[in-house]
Amino acid sequence: MKAAVIHGPRTVTYDTVDDPKIEESRDIILKVTSTAICGSDLHIYSGGIPQPRPMTLGHEFMGIVEEVGSSVKNLQRGDRVVVPFPVACGTCFFCNHDLPGHCENSNPDNYGPEGGLLTQKGGALFGYTDLYGGYDGGQAEYVRVPYGDYGPRKVPDNLTDEQVLFLTDIFPTGYSGVDWGEVKGGETVAIFGAGPVGIMAAKSAFLRGAARVVIVDTLQYRLDKAASSSGCETILWEDGAKGVVEQIRAMTNGRGADVCIDAVGFEPDRGLIDRVKTVINFEKGSTKVLEACFSAVRRGGIVPILGVYPGPYDNFPVGQIFDKGIIVKSGQAPAHKHIDLLLKYVIEGRVELDDIITHRLPLSQVAHAYDIFKKKEDNCVKVVLNPWA
Ligand SMILES: NC(=O)c1ccc[n+]([C@@H]2O[C@H](COP(=O)([O-])OP(=O)(O)OC[C@H]3O[C@@H](n4cnc5c(N)ncnc54)[C@H](O)[C@@H]3O)[C@@H](O)[C@H]2O)c1
Ligand SMILES: [Zn+2]
Ligand SMILES: [Zn+2]
Repeated sequence: MKAAVIHGPRTVTYDTVDDPKIEESRDIILKVTSTAICGSDLHIYSGGIPQPRPMTLGHEFMGIVEEVGSSVKNLQRGDRVVVPFPVACGTCFFCNHDLPGHCENSNPDNYGPEGGLLTQKGGALFGYTDLYGGYDGGQAEYVRVPYGDYGPRKVPDNLTDEQVLFLTDIFPTGYSGVDWGEVKGGETVAIFGAGPVGIMAAKSAFLRGAARVVIVDTLQYRLDKAASSSGCETILWEDGAKGVVEQIRAMTNGRGADVCIDAVGFEPDRGLIDRVKTVINFEKGSTKVLEACFSAVRRGGIVPILGVYPGPYDNFPVGQIFDKGIIVKSGQAPAHKHIDLLLKYVIEGRVELDDIITHRLPLSQVAHAYDIFKKKEDNCVKVVLNPWA
């Protein structure tokens, strides 16, 4: 079959690979009808999260069940499903605590309680490096889905792929941000990053009744998309964090936002000085967006970290976190926890997800797709790939 394979930094190619097979009785094989590229894929693409051997990428995918393992009773060939991005067993301690990203069974080779830089990681993710399970992803014609009786959710025929595809990751992830932020109604929510995740967090904040939602980005075209698709306010990050923080405080009687969500992560837009600091400190990327969140949140407020941070960082402002009494929550989003409620919202027409799509391409153009999404060219916000076009 054909698949998008990463061969090293900035090298993703459209390759012929082996067809996936049922390996365990709870597996299903899915014929992928739509798949998307995520900001998380860009960390592997940049080399920031390394992958030593070629691997099929992709954790945002949906399709038609092609084959089911002998113990899968709730699905059959022909069912149309979306698949949440964590590979989770559904039976372990963490799965039973609504923490599928920390599943104890899906990542046997590299799982552990420590959460180190290159050891003892969490549960597996589809198409997300050997450290996270080594499972091939869904940017392919077919994909093997382990624990196929737990993750996949059937979707109604009257909804298009594009209307439901983002239930796999970015919508539940954005929603997790406001859930971690304990948004109940009336709050001011500031979101750093107007990428797909940040925009889904903005939509989610309004669904939960936030009074004001403001989104921050370094790129005006991303802010324009965020405003038109969610109705949020926007702030352009121009000359560093200070001006942004001042604007957020000015919106909130000088206090700061109730919730500040980091939807950027460790690879923000960076100048030369930032890059030199990274090398001197043996650090990966930068925490400057997270630090801006700590400044822009009010005392006693909550900072949900959706953007990925892979390693330790010196000079982490724990004194500021303590002084302000900030609550920090973070991690891989518990997609399984929220997906049913969010599918219901889509079915009821309470939220539209497909309005962030800017590019629809055949999977054969995957190299170009990664290139423009990484470089933020051609006003790219979200790319959907069709393996059969
Ligand atoms: N926690 C999870 O479960 C989960 C799930 C999906 C994605 N993610 C992570 O969320 C992050 C965002 O994903 P995405 O798909 O939206 O990626 P993206 O790369 O499309 O979006 C990131 C946005 O941040 C903006 N940005 C860069 N520097 C900035 C700065 N200094 N201030 C404000 N904005 C800045 C970029 O212009 C871009 O619009 C990534 O780190 C991704 O890995 C986490
Ligand atoms: Zn994703
Ligand atoms: Zn589990």
